[in-house]
Amino acid sequence: MTNALFIFGTRPEAIKLCPVVDALRKHPDYRVSVCVTAQHRALLDQVLAVFQVRPDHDLNVMTPGQTLFQSTSRITAALEPVIEREQPDVVLVQGDTTTTFCGALAGFYKRIPVAHIEAGLRTGDRYQPFPEEMNRLLAGRLASIHFAATPWAADNLRREGVEDGSIHVTGNTGIDAVLHVARGLERGAIETPELPKPLDASKKLIVVTTHRRESFGGGLESTCRAIRRLASRPDTQIVFPVHPNPNVRATVDGLLRGVANVTLCEPLSYVPFVDLMRRAWLLLTDSGGIQEEGPSLGKPILVLREKTERPEAVEAGTVRLVGTGEERIVAHASELLDDAALYESMAQAHNPYGDGAASGRIAAILAGAVAGGRAG
Ligand code: UD1
Ligand code: UDP
Repeated sequence: MTNALFIFGTRPEAIKLCPVVDALRKHPDYRVSVCVTAQHRALLDQVLAVFQVRPDHDLNVMTPGQTLFQSTSRITAALEPVIEREQPDVVLVQGDTTTTFCGALAGFYKRIPVAHIEAGLRTGDRYQPFPEEMNRLLAGRLASIHFAATPWAADNLRREGVEDGSIHVTGNTGIDAVLHVARGLERGAIETPELPKPLDASKKLIVVTTHRRESFGGGLESTCRAIRRLASRPDTQIVFPVHPNPNVRATVDGLLRGVANVTLCEPLSYVPFVDLMRRAWLLLTDSGGIQEEGPSLGKPILVLREKTERPEAVEAGTVRLVGTGEERIVAHASELLDDAALYESMAQAHNPYGDGAASGRIAAILAGAVAGGRAG
């Protein structure tokens, strides 16, 4: 029996790890415990409710407007007694957040093998995204088993000298989550949720999300100005669930509150958000996870960043990197709005990031890797 301890704390980690928690819980080889840092509070709780995961440990560390120093020190300190109590055989972390880095560090400090899920994503620029590129590099160094979503991510790890036998290409567990919800909505197995505002069927729905630290200030302001211009077209409607980070809220409220055709709302729970993406005509986002979900739902994405660690969908033509400059965003979105053939060529359902079965693969591989000492 492998004693597996999950450590996660933010919305995207929860969405991508709850399917893995479920897969390991159903597998006879594992005893599973879940520790949430609650680096996010409300956003995390929304996801735990959707997937019905009840944590064994809740460190409840979030404070409003937390700095990286504050969250890093609080999370690291709070993890020590959890690891001592659980004595896991393996610690599982996901992605590139502060919780990811601290969880991997905590496992390493106790000489417990760390498994890193969604390993090997890289932009090659330590400040983009900030601090995530460094978090995932450090988590990769601390981990001894690496679950890469794609062959490209696995190659990045090999180039950095990670031992080939410790790398497993599984697909992204976020695709397990999004396909589960999207298919459930299609079949009627999941009830269609209420959206923040009734949608106007005669208009093209543009869904916007943004939260990256490197865009705070000027980049976010120019993004908002671009959205204002796109909203002034007669054929568009914008829905923008606003991230609770105060640096996002202040700018978005200042520039977009009360603008006609723009609905600003609280972050949506996962099921309504997936439903909103299904109904969307175009996604404008700097999110990592949405860059993976959009292509599998056949939705074109304009990525509000200069660099991406997820180049596969850009190469496939369903995603374009447009940055945060007002003119470029308006130009790219307008081109799509005015050119039906171009739009159709981008709106191809495409799954470079997974087939929906990644979590089962991880469950099948992990216990063997730990037992064989390959994760040690
Ligand atoms: C974090 C991650 C980022 C990830 C993003 C997903 C780090 C450094 N950043 O960024 O990689 O893409 O989550 O959303 O780990 N807040 C709330 N309620 C919540 C969540 C956040 O009020 O449920 C507010 C709080 O004021 C909090 C602030 O947002 O202090 C920032 O949260 P934090 O986790 O530090 O950073 P994010 O910008 O959310
Ligand atoms: N998401 C959600 N509600 C929202 C916005 C996003 O459930 O209002 C989901 C989205 O489908 C994706 C994840 O949150 O699975 C992405 O989280 P975020 O963009 O905050 O983080 P990132 O992926 O950039 O780390």
